[in-house]
Amino acid sequence: MSKFYDAIVIGSGIAGLSFALKIAEAGHRVAVITKKNSADSNTNYAQGGIAAVTSQTDDVEMHVADTLDAGDGLCNEQAVREILKDGAASIEELAGRGVAFSQLDDGRVSLGKEGGHSKRRILHVKDVTGKAIEQALIHGITNSDNIEVLEHHFAIELITASKVREVGEGKLSDKVLGVYALNSKTDEVETYAASAVLLATGGIGQVYQFSTNPSIATGDGIAMAYRAGVEVRNMEFIQFHPTALYANDSDRFLISEAVRGEGAILRNFAGEAFMERYDRRKDLAPRDIVARAIDSEMKKSGAPHVWLDVRGESAEVIRDRFPNIYGHCEALGIHLEKDMIPVVPAAHYLCGGVKTNLNSETSLKGLYACGEVACTGLHGANRLASNSLLEAVVMATRGADALIQYLAEAESESFELPEWKDGDLRDSDERVILSHNLDELKRTLWDYVGIVRTTKRLQRARTRIQNLEREINEYYWNFKVDESLLQLRNMILVASLIIDCALLRKESRGLHYTLDYPNKLETSADTTVVKQ
Ligand code: FAD
Ligand code: SIN
Repeated sequence: MSKFYDAIVIGSGIAGLSFALKIAEAGHRVAVITKKNSADSNTNYAQGGIAAVTSQTDDVEMHVADTLDAGDGLCNEQAVREILKDGAASIEELAGRGVAFSQLDDGRVSLGKEGGHSKRRILHVKDVTGKAIEQALIHGITNSDNIEVLEHHFAIELITASKVREVGEGKLSDKVLGVYALNSKTDEVETYAASAVLLATGGIGQVYQFSTNPSIATGDGIAMAYRAGVEVRNMEFIQFHPTALYANDSDRFLISEAVRGEGAILRNFAGEAFMERYDRRKDLAPRDIVARAIDSEMKKSGAPHVWLDVRGESAEVIRDRFPNIYGHCEALGIHLEKDMIPVVPAAHYLCGGVKTNLNSETSLKGLYACGEVACTGLHGANRLASNSLLEAVVMATRGADALIQYLAEAESESFELPEWKDGDLRDSDERVILSHNLDELKRTLWDYVGIVRTTKRLQRARTRIQNLEREINEYYWNFKVDESLLQLRNMILVASLIIDCALLRKESRGLHYTLDYPNKLETSADTTVVKQ
């Protein structure tokens, strides 16, 4: 028996929770399906803050200009204007939900600065902005009678009309009907029906060997959407954050760009402040430029990292503004007032994703997407720092408004969805294939689909990913599903979409830089991929 909701939200980061709260506040029944604990999300790790025009000396047009400039000619200007104009309202909404943004001693809001911004406009809660937002939203969800949170439920596949019944002339057109989700506590696949589904599954950082993203960021929503025939675009634009803490393992703790905003300087192994050789904005140039500059310095010197130097500031000032970063470094024996921080670029953010309009609607009826999983056109070829949290809140509101309208107009149809068929397949005893293939996937993407690309490297990556794809599909059809298998299958698909898009782009623009086409084409265009 499937359970029925007005809407199912997949994901419990800023996008999913903001959206669910809006729908529930309009009186609709919502299920939030999330694969770990509710707080496990990229949102929970956000440091620098949320960009919005809130000061008298700033102007939305300036924020628009900075975003267009960072996006390197590929932003959708209408999307940029529509989303950024709602910045101040989104801040008010978050504050209303209990997010206490940091203030100066005189009571004014504290505004941080990050790369590519011509003004101080980043609202933050010290350097733990995401955690503060996540906690406030979870508090709201917990207190709502209309929201059921299903933790440890891994959404596997969208259920669409075309999958469950005949679609054709005069018959039902395709639309989303629900979701299959694996209950990781019982190991059973459950069926959930709804009038509408929101994908809010976040990013893909985990497909790379080195990433700032936590383990949940495996691109499941993009894979599900693509398999359902939904349009996906601009997957080649992977943002590498310039300054992740260099460590011996693959975890990459972020050293926020806001640290550079407060005056920290990048230095190479010779101690030289090198950014002035790459961009007039030096250490506060947009991320694609800074990450490429670091990559180039590391390649030239053969050093494993560069340095971030914040030694000009007193321990009190750094500890007060960046307590999380200060504490993390101190625990590793790095004292920021006297030691430089070893930093390297790491995979951080996906600018492409499931294509949506400005109502968060995808190309499949009843399917919405917002947050990092979605591609609205705001970021173009390179996201401006701290525009992501903002986009998630604005698009959750716009999407929720559209969905409430959709629910009012939707014909009510109730019918049983088919149960998931696992057959009598047995648990796999060849799990080593999964860990081996996961490792190969991550290394392939890191080595061949990184900051600087070539056609040959991309083709090499494609061949390797195709092999992994064949193996995982064989495995998928032969064994009972579990979370690591489902996740790896999604990651392999996402990797192949990144490579396909990268090979389609015959130019260098924003985050996609290839030695074979070092220049920009005169006209910019999105790369769209749809399953045939
Ligand atoms: P997420 O917050 O990642 O949430 C995704 C949710 O989907 C999670 O709950 C996850 O468990 C769930 N999920 C995924 N797949 C499934 C599945 N198959 N089934 C069920 N549930 C699933 N941006 C800024 O604007 N400012 C910043 O200061 C900033 N700092 C950052 C610092 C770090 C270290 C990182 C990693 C990112 C940062 N970003 C920042 C980016 C920003 O945090 C993210 O883009 C944003 O939080 C994404 O929100 P989201 O709701 O779309 O996804
Ligand atoms: C940071 O704090 O540097 C991350 C900001 C972002 O990703 O927008």
